Amino acid sequence: MKNKVSIIGAGMTGSTTAHWLAEREIADLVLVDVVEGMPQGKALDLLQALPVIGKDIDIVGANDYEATGNSDIVVITAGLPRKPGMSRDDLLTVNAEIVRTAITETVLRSPDAIFVILTNPLDTMAYLAMKVGKLLPKRIIGQAGILDSARMRAFVAMETGISVQNIHCYVLGGHGDEMVPLTRHSNIAGIPLRDYLAGERLEAIVNRTRKGGGEIVSLLKTGSAYYAPAVAVAQMVEAILKDKHLVVPAAAFMQGQYGLKDIFFGAPVQLGRVGVERIIEYQLDEDEKDALRKSAEAVRSTTDAMLKLVNLEQR
Ligand SMILES: NC(=O)c1ccc[n+]([C@@H]2O[C@H](COP(=O)([O-])OP(=O)(O)OC[C@H]3O[C@@H](n4cnc5c(N)ncnc54)[C@H](O)[C@@H]3O)[C@@H](O)[C@H]2O)c1
Repeated sequence: MKNKVSIIGAGMTGSTTAHWLAEREIADLVLVDVVEGMPQGKALDLLQALPVIGKDIDIVGANDYEATGNSDIVVITAGLPRKPGMSRDDLLTVNAEIVRTAITETVLRSPDAIFVILTNPLDTMAYLAMKVGKLLPKRIIGQAGILDSARMRAFVAMETGISVQNIHCYVLGGHGDEMVPLTRHSNIAGIPLRDYLAGERLEAIVNRTRKGGGEIVSLLKTGSAYYAPAVAVAQMVEAILKDKHLVVPAAAFMQGQYGLKDIFFGAPVQLGRVGVERIIEYQLDEDEKDALRKSAEAVRSTTDAMLKLVNLEQR
């Protein structure tokens, strides 16, 4: 039986996710968006690329949710992206309503799906999705960590000239300016990053990683990054559909891990067909724990603001 992945929001990240997924030929795709004709047009365009790349999947676009029925995975990318000068948290009010609708409509038609959330503010939207959909925590994963870690890997490759394949970086915490690039665990072909790069060069990479999304927003001016976020989603979708037990940094519901409870937060997460199989805990030093605590406070305060805004039962 073929897999089915529905992508809600066929804007830049949604349609680019469809593109990366089509290349992998792992599922039929459904694109849903409120803009009339747009998801249908993008789906048809992508479908017409398939003969050239030799991939056989179905791709449909729609303005309603009927076609999403019985999806294995639902990816939520509907909502506004940042503009220059905005933080991800500035998107909360408008995106909460959009995500609430998207989750309600998709859970109804795909009660067994795994949900991958992209809409910002990411950690808070994942929490909202879990509450609105009344979903088990293992069935919701927020995409942030693969992207933030890939940004750091790209910057290290630019600095050292070494293949990205040899560069392993781990960025944990919330998907905001307080995210925590773990320089002690990151390495180049097994050599700790801290031993390879001098202090100030490493610090510059850490800072650029933290502001990596904002750097692209200020260059694009009309929206935010989409190639790298979308391929990160494709990696997560593939890991789930193929039951790979792949460990990636991603936002998962914390139930005591890292001393945190009742928030979605970036950590190394093992992904398989059931969704989140487990959350792996690194041994952290006091500085790293402090940085994670600070990041968790930021996520908790946005999640609290969301709970006040949206009429949901409190924690
Ligand atoms: N977590 C991450 O790493 C990450 C990365 C990139 C983007 N994002 C977030 O993803 C979201 C989308 O970003 P984008 O660049 O694709 O923006 P975009 O504006 O290109 O696309 C968003 C799409 O959502 C659609 N939409 C709005 N309301 C909808 C609804 N109720 N139902 C269905 N579709 C609806 C819009 O019509 C639009 O086409 C933003 O919130 C952005 O901040 C997150």
